[in-house]
Parts: sequence; C-alpha cells; structure tokens
Amino acid sequence: MIRIEHVSKSFPGVVALDDISFQIDSGTVHGLVGENGAGKSTLIKIISGIYSDYEGDIFIDDQRLQINSVHEAQKKGIATIFQELTVVRELTVAENIFLGREPVGFAGALDRAEMERKSQQVLNELNASFSPRDKVGDLSVANQQLVEISKALVLNTRILIMDEPTSSLTEREIKNLFSVINMLKAKGITILYVSHKLEEIFKICDAITVLRDGKHIQTNSKSATNPPDVIRMMVGRSLNMMYPPRTAQKGELLLSVKNLTRVGEFQNIDFEVHAGEIVGFAGLIGSGRTELAKALFGAACPDKGEIRICNQKKKLFCHPREAISQGLVYLSEDRKQEGLILLLSVRENISLPIVKKISQNLFVKRKEEQNIVDS
Ligand SMILES: Nc1ncnc2c1ncn2[C@@H]1O[C@H](COP(=O)(O)OP(=O)(O)O)[C@@H](O)[C@H]1O
Ligand SMILES: [Mg+2]
Repeated sequence: MIRIEHVSKSFPGVVALDDISFQIDSGTVHGLVGENGAGKSTLIKIISGIYSDYEGDIFIDDQRLQINSVHEAQKKGIATIFQELTVVRELTVAENIFLGREPVGFAGALDRAEMERKSQQVLNELNASFSPRDKVGDLSVANQQLVEISKALVLNTRILIMDEPTSSLTEREIKNLFSVINMLKAKGITILYVSHKLEEIFKICDAITVLRDGKHIQTNSKSATNPPDVIRMMVGRSLNMMYPPRTAQKGELLLSVKNLTRVGEFQNIDFEVHAGEIVGFAGLIGSGRTELAKALFGAACPDKGEIRICNQKKKLFCHPREAISQGLVYLSEDRKQEGLILLLSVRENISLPIVKKISQNLFVKRKEEQNIVDS
C-alpha cells in the first residue's frame, strides 16, 4: 500500500501540489486524473525519485519513502514509464532491458547469452512479438514501451507508474497494453496510471484520484463514481456536453489529391481538403497513414498521382523544401526523432525551416532570427 500524506511542492511562483493525501491499495490499478497543470507529473516525479525536496511523507507498506534518485526508487521496487520513453535506440532490446545491470559471467565478461535468455523470458510473458536481439530503434513506439515494461519486470518492480501511456498508441496497441496491465496486476504489481482519457481510466482502473490546481479533490473506487462526476471534479463545474456540436463553415477547396501512389506503401488515394476543415485519416498501424503524410510533404517521393493546391496542378513534391514553399507544414508523429533537434534552442528550432533566408555567408543573422521568432 502507498500512503501519500500531506505532500506539498512549490516551484517559484506556483504551488504545484498543495497538501495532498490519499492512498493506493496494493495490486490495484489506480488512476490519477486532472486537467493540464493539475500536478499529476509533479506527484509522480516525487514518487519516482526525481524530486526529493517536497513537504509531507510518502509511505510504502508503512515504511517512509526516502529516496533521492530514480536509481534509488528502482531499488525500492518503483519504476516509471514516462510519456517520453527513455530507451536507447541504438542498443538491442536485451541491452536496453539490462542497461546498467548487465549480468557478468566468467572473468567479468558480459554474459550476453544469459541476458538474451532472461529477456526472452520476460518478452514471452508479455506476449511480445520481437526478439531480444532486435535494435530498439527499429521497433514501433508500442513495442519500445513493452521494452520499458520488460525493464521494470526484470528489476522486480512492485509499483509501476505510467504517465499517459497511450498517448501515441493505436487502438489495437492500447488493447494490448491493457492486457499487459491486467497481467501485471495479476502478478500483484501496483500500477499508478496517469491519464486524462476518462474512457481508458474507467476501463482499466480500480480506483480514481482527481487532482485540480494542485489540490486533492477526491479518491474513489471506480464503482463509486462515474465519468460525468469525474469531469465535474476535474474542471470544478459541471459540463453538459463533452463534445458540443461544431459550427465551422467549410471554405474554398485548398488541396485536392488524386490517385496518389507510392508503391508498397499506399495506392490511388483520393481526397479533398477545404479551408477551415479538419480531415482525419484513420487506419491501423501499417496502413500507410504516416507514409501518405510524408509523401504529401515531399519527405518521400510519391510514384504517381496528382496534387492540386488552390486548384493549381503542382508537380509531385520530392523534397520538403518544395512543399514548404507551397505553404504545407508537417508535424511528425515522433517529434523527438524527426521533428526537433533537441540540442538546439527553441529559437533555433523555430527558425530552422527558414534558416537559409536569414543567413549570410554561412552565418545565421541572430538578430533577424530573434525578431522573427519573437513575433
Ligand atoms: N519544473 C517546473 N518549474 C516550474 N513550474 C513547474 C515545473 N513543473 C511543473 N510546474 C508547474 O506546476 C503545476 C503542475 O504541473 P504538472 O505537475 O506538470 O501538472 P500535470 O502533469 O497535471 O499537467 C503547473 O502549474 C506547472 O506549470
Ligand atoms: Mg503531466
């Protein structure tokens, strides 16, 4: 059992957590919900050892938790799967699972066979379809998440914290994750499940805690509450309609695509997009949604088809530069890998698509960059 008693934590100018107390029963899935800024991440960072400067106490099986690092938390059986996964893409599955604790065999040599054997055991338990020798960077996000869960399992984790674990999973992957969570629960692992998706919370959790503006609003068993109640507690007032009808007006035809094909990825795709319209592409993973988006943006050359922008026929883009010059923008699925250069500043990232325009003799004109970004 985890008892959180009078926990408070402030950042300069913000009270992120204000005298929080509730408890989490062992072997249950406990949902932690709240709007953006409610304090969910701060609370799990405290439990997982990232923040050690807080007021109040946390007890695990009546022992006061005193930890100063994620590593110490792991030693106490607490593991966290953050929204941004922390796997090392260049390493294999087995290397990731045993990272920092590689079993050593004879004369201190790395016992790779043992590592792979143990990894395979855990992967079997999770019904995973990949191998300990696969490179993690080649796996889907869902499978990378399974690698993180495997890591928690070989660490003998008793408390697993998951921060928005379904945010980049497909429906089928979510179903699979839920059966994994039920399996972990059956092993007696306690799960703290952070999400703002109430449908999921009500499907998978046994009890639900609501935070709002850093305050504890309520902890209830699932059967004692319901989604409208939880929404009311999250936002502090009652909402009559979760999805009010939209009244947007469809404007002129901006983009029309005919027979767009990239062999082996998608074929003969037709669609139109009007001004002020949101067009969704649904499909299972592997159905070609991302590939289609990339081809539209010129990140991969389409083989045939026709693209019209504002009713003008365009040649098929073969470089993002061409798409950008026609006013197309692409936000990638995997922002950390494809969308951003994490070593650069926010300003440098924002100005990157126009870096040529603001450069002279190989140097970026910083003043100009600043003016554009600040505007
Ligand atoms: N490192 C930080 N520095 C300053 N303020 C922070 C920091 N982390 C969180 N906060 C603030 O604390 C409050 C709670 O944030 P957070 O725990 O991230 O909420 P949630 O995860 O529920 O969205 C917010 O007002 C947020 O702006
Ligand atoms: Mg958060």
